[in-house]
Amino acid sequence: MPPLPLHLQSSARPFIEVDHFDFWYGPKQVLHDIHLAFPENHITALIGPSGCGKTTLLRNLNRMNDLVDGIRHRGDIRLDGTSLYDPKVEVISLRKRVGMVFQKYNPFPKSIYENVIFSLRVAGRNDRRQLDEVVEKSLRQAALWDEVKDKLHESAFGLSGGQQQRLCIARAIANRPQVLLMDEPCAALDPIATLKIEELMTQLKDEFTIVIVTHNMEQARRVADLTAFFYLGKLIEYDETLSLFTQPSQIQTEAYISGRFS
Ligand SMILES: Nc1ncnc2c1ncn2[C@@H]1O[C@H](COP(=O)(O)OP(=O)(O)OP(=O)(O)O)[C@@H](O)[C@H]1O
Ligand SMILES: [Mg+2]
Repeated sequence: MPPLPLHLQSSARPFIEVDHFDFWYGPKQVLHDIHLAFPENHITALIGPSGCGKTTLLRNLNRMNDLVDGIRHRGDIRLDGTSLYDPKVEVISLRKRVGMVFQKYNPFPKSIYENVIFSLRVAGRNDRRQLDEVVEKSLRQAALWDEVKDKLHESAFGLSGGQQQRLCIARAIANRPQVLLMDEPCAALDPIATLKIEELMTQLKDEFTIVIVTHNMEQARRVADLTAFFYLGKLIEYDETLSLFTQPSQIQTEAYISGRFS
């Protein structure tokens, strides 16, 4: 069983378990024996230099990498105890349980309202009252409702970048996923919009298990309960965020967090 960091072993439930996981793009191995668990209702940050495999690991957590030709893996990833590779698991329903938010906010060319309920429409849900409820609840949870409630039927492209990213978060949570994956969600945002998203994440962890990739170490320190440091496709260190940043046990972690390599 992949472990949680020691201090959490009695208080948190491992919700996602990455079990001796190796991953290849064609002949190139980019993840090596990754072994760790992400605890339920916590925020875990993945950090490390460019190319170390953070996005690759994140995209394996909802099998987004299945869309890439020539991939191969060894080992297992379990969500709430069930392997993602179990033949009974349907990728579509897996992606409903594990939502994703990307670096570049990507609303659809539709109204704010239709963006939020996009996946419900795809699933054939058309009950206006229910849809209205989902829209309001998701936008409130994404801390966007007050800013957009009077223009729900206007284009999403009329919103600021930070608002568009919160809209993408609302769209991701409208499905009631259990896990929210965020790949550098603030990379394209200014500091104020970034702080809004960070506040939002801290609220969302009551309901969701969150895994975030970030290059911003201050951000990891501010929002993440746990931090995992990766280097050249390997997990080097995984610990409570404060311990990892103040008392790293590995020299590579120390070098990275003190800015000696990027
Ligand atoms: N679709 C792909 N096909 C082949 N190789 C890929 C593909 N995507 C990523 N890689 C390679 O896998 C390795 C890990 O990439 P990945 O995108 O996971 O890194 P990362 O840690 O997210 O980097 P960054 O911080 O720059 O986003 C890199 O060497 C990259 O070139
Ligand atoms: Mg990346």
